[in-house]
Amino acid sequence: MIDAFARDIHYLRVSVTDRCNLRCVYCMPEEGLPLVDHREVLRFEEFERLIAIAAAQGVRRVRITGGEPLVRKGIVPFVARVKAITGIEDVALTTNGILLPRFAGDLKAAGLDRVNISLDTLRPERFRAVTRVGCVDDVWTGIEAALAADLHPVKLNVVVMGGVNDDELADFARLTLQWPIHVRFIELMPIGEGDPRFRGQFVSIEQMQAKMAREGLRLGNHPGIRGGGPARYHTLEGALGTVGFISAMSKHFCAACNRLRLTAEGKLRPCLHSRQEIDLKAPMRRGAPDSLLSLIFQKAVEAKPYQHSMLDEGWGDRTRRMSQIGG
Ligand code: GTP
Ligand code: 5AD
Ligand code: SF4
Repeated sequence: MIDAFARDIHYLRVSVTDRCNLRCVYCMPEEGLPLVDHREVLRFEEFERLIAIAAAQGVRRVRITGGEPLVRKGIVPFVARVKAITGIEDVALTTNGILLPRFAGDLKAAGLDRVNISLDTLRPERFRAVTRVGCVDDVWTGIEAALAADLHPVKLNVVVMGGVNDDELADFARLTLQWPIHVRFIELMPIGEGDPRFRGQFVSIEQMQAKMAREGLRLGNHPGIRGGGPARYHTLEGALGTVGFISAMSKHFCAACNRLRLTAEGKLRPCLHSRQEIDLKAPMRRGAPDSLLSLIFQKAVEAKPYQHSMLDEGWGDRTRRMSQIGG
């Protein structure tokens, strides 16, 4: 599918649930968010049908997100069904890693290609403070399980927050000397609970790189690793993995955007930031044929904005959160 700015849209991010077993401070309030009624969340067969329709129009990559996708019952057979859809070449999953020790092997057997694991700090007390409920050892065991299950490349997502975890950049980067993992530092976005933090805690990629250089880390350029996302990769000499940067704010990558998002409630989001959502669930549940649903995908592609405007406007729309959109 080609959009109005000649971008090839072939990557679909599918949020299968708004539920999560963590409460990251930049994502949710401590008490969590009001949950979407189960009947309003798409059934796996409904997701499967929509992904097949998207694949028939050129979508080749699917990323399963949440909330936390591994808290949804039946996720392993769902992965197998997505992997079997004609035209889908790459099925990946973004997870907080807590449940990976239990699921990594089964996910691999079901055909999952790879995982991205969110981990903002390596320090146990800090991890508890950032996620409010989690235990960092569980995530680390999850990372080892993903490596053991051969879910390569295993990427870590680190949202960098000034005064919170920006003193751990070198520790994270040095992990790549011993482990074949790909650490990606992400700029905080003014989304959800990230919005009130943004002004005080935003650290740009440039600032991160300057800090790492001051700490004696020499990052060489790297041609990149398997993936469809916006990260730019570097490497330390002799490392097994890489260090990537996702400049969601300072140098946004909208010109190369390749994606659409499908929310757990069955709405297509042309852009992470756009307020616009195009409903697929209601027409699907009223019995719309594939041809009509295909047209709705086309409409969403046509509605993709040239770029997001978070820097000028902030997020604005506080009614939708990252856990409900799928990151
Ligand atoms: P691969 O490169 O295919 O591994 O995936 P990815 O990096 O696109 O996926 P992941 O779910 O790990 O997302 C990493 C970070 O990039 C998250 O913080 C996302 O919110 C952010 N991100 C992903 N897509 C977009 C986008 O379209 N716009 C913006 N601004 N940020 C995005
Ligand atoms: N800014 C940047 N990244 C965020 N994520 C969640 N909220 C934000 C935010 N406000 C990240 C998660 C996860 C990915 C899907 O999105 O940490 O790695
Ligand atoms: Fe859960 Fe991810 Fe939000 Fe953390 S950032 S609360 S892991 S959905």
